[in-house]
Amino acid sequence: GGPVSRGLAFTPIAPVPAAVDAFSVPAGYSWNPIIRWGDPLFAATDRFDPEHQTAASQARQFGYNNDYLDILEGPGRKGRDGILVTNHEYTNENIMFAPATTPAEADEQRRIAMMAHGMSVVALERKRAGQPWTYRVGDRLNRRITASTPFTVTGPAAGSDLLKTKGDPTGRTVLGTLGNCAGGTTPWGTVLSGEENFNGYFRANGTSTADARYGLANRPTGRLWEQIDDRFDATVAGNENEPNRFGWIVEIDPEAPNEPPVKHTALGRFKHEGANVIVGKTGHVAAYMGDDERFDYLYKFVSHDRFDKKKSPKARTHNKSLLTRGSLYVARFTGNSPAAEITGTGQLPADGQFDGTGQWVALVIDGVCQVAGFTTDDALVNTRLVADAVGATKMDRCEDVEPSPVTGKIYVACTNNSDRGRLGKEGATEANPRAINRDGHIVEITETGSDATSVTFDWNLLLVCGDPKTNTSTYFAGFPSDKVSPISCPDNVAFDTEGNLWISTDGAPSTIGFCDGLFKVPLVGPERGRVQQFLAVPRQAETCGPVIRSEQSMVYVAVQHPGEDGSWAAQASRFPDYVAQRATAPAGAWAGPRPSVVQVWKP
Ligand code: FEO
Ligand code: CA
Ligand code: CA
Ligand code: CA
Repeated sequence: GGPVSRGLAFTPIAPVPAAVDAFSVPAGYSWNPIIRWGDPLFAATDRFDPEHQTAASQARQFGYNNDYLDILEGPGRKGRDGILVTNHEYTNENIMFAPATTPAEADEQRRIAMMAHGMSVVALERKRAGQPWTYRVGDRLNRRITASTPFTVTGPAAGSDLLKTKGDPTGRTVLGTLGNCAGGTTPWGTVLSGEENFNGYFRANGTSTADARYGLANRPTGRLWEQIDDRFDATVAGNENEPNRFGWIVEIDPEAPNEPPVKHTALGRFKHEGANVIVGKTGHVAAYMGDDERFDYLYKFVSHDRFDKKKSPKARTHNKSLLTRGSLYVARFTGNSPAAEITGTGQLPADGQFDGTGQWVALVIDGVCQVAGFTTDDALVNTRLVADAVGATKMDRCEDVEPSPVTGKIYVACTNNSDRGRLGKEGATEANPRAINRDGHIVEITETGSDATSVTFDWNLLLVCGDPKTNTSTYFAGFPSDKVSPISCPDNVAFDTEGNLWISTDGAPSTIGFCDGLFKVPLVGPERGRVQQFLAVPRQAETCGPVIRSEQSMVYVAVQHPGEDGSWAAQASRFPDYVAQRATAPAGAWAGPRPSVVQVWKP
């Protein structure tokens, strides 16, 4: 049968071998980069010059390693104006820079890397909906947020002693955002982004239970930023709490370029993959969030106040306060099949489903900690410890978690977990049924009464991923496995206009030997579970974003870390321009990749 989406029909592409350095789309589609690492945002004179980058120029250019992405289409201009919002998770210094020859050069490379982190807001324009965009240099909305941009802290832990440092004795203003991974656009038009692997940026005392639980240690960091800014050295007196100021959900308003971005303490602190918000039946909003670490947890925040659906500035201001006050829950999954039937091989139990019921266990209700022995500040700043205490379910790395705007069901990408069956670990469970989960799985959750504010739910696994040609433990919601595209390591998810799930992957080259890609999966009807590959990203890249506008036959992805295993002298990818050297660089200087936001359209 043909694909279901109206307006975005395609014949699935064949899986692309891992060594191929190409961006691959279905027959009949075109692609180009909208914006690339180093492209100028504020003046054309800030052009990318990889041999002569400075921190000052990078702060005025598009950052590195774009991950979360949305394309907000301006109202009232028939789809001709847009705003691109993305984050910049981290930097690949090994391919960005020639090896430094002096300490001063090494320090400047560190400052450039700091300016290549964070987020970007970029104004777009085009002739009409469905046509490719170009970005506008110097637009009033264009914005860079970096490792030094001031953020305002909101919520119950703002001003807490656990957030105070010598640089910020109030505990209310944090410089910068780091490790921004997935995210979500809110029903009120702002963008959320998750601070994920923040621990890698800090040298810390590493002696407390919390430091150990969050992976903070007393050893030099990989990037050595602590050598040029003692904020990154939490062993320095007065800086002990600096790592507590990262690991939050951040929110920016792309239409308010002068408004400080915020960090929301009410949503807890962990290795936040991202957050996606849906308005519940009662008008309260729920934010679904994953903590991306092996054996870590799935969370939900429910707002105290209700969403105001009016379009007025007053309603927008109110809605921007929704994530500052409410309740924080962690998920506990219970399987309905006998434990003996969960063998760790991924084989289905006798009832034919990995499924069961679940509970959202309250950690904090309306700003008050619900767990004996912990304060509210503990629950919000060291959330993992409090979630440990209530026996939350250990998951196989929750990446993106997103409610369907069509059905309200929630989809959780568990990317992989090779350690589940190891000695001393808990082994397979019905919600995480492989002892060695190389390829990951997708959990489908139905809230009781289909209400996002419920405290109980039903769940089942939609997909148990892998290449069915070489792996007998895959499951595609009952769809014949010989008729699907192989898929491994699901990471970011999105929905098209019709409610089909789209999944982007990170890690397939090392598990099934194919480049990462973007896949469509119908969720209802006879095609439920039919995974179809739409695109593949180049060698060593991860597929991020994605944004699906099926009514316009357009797809957008953020191509992260292309050619990441190369070096300055021996680059592994030339994406996206595929020229032997950069036009702006001296002869022979640069033939490397540029992480980019790509648009795919039907000419
Ligand atoms: Fe940055 Fe969890 O991927
Ligand atoms: Ca079952
Ligand atoms: Ca991710
Ligand atoms: Ca990932």
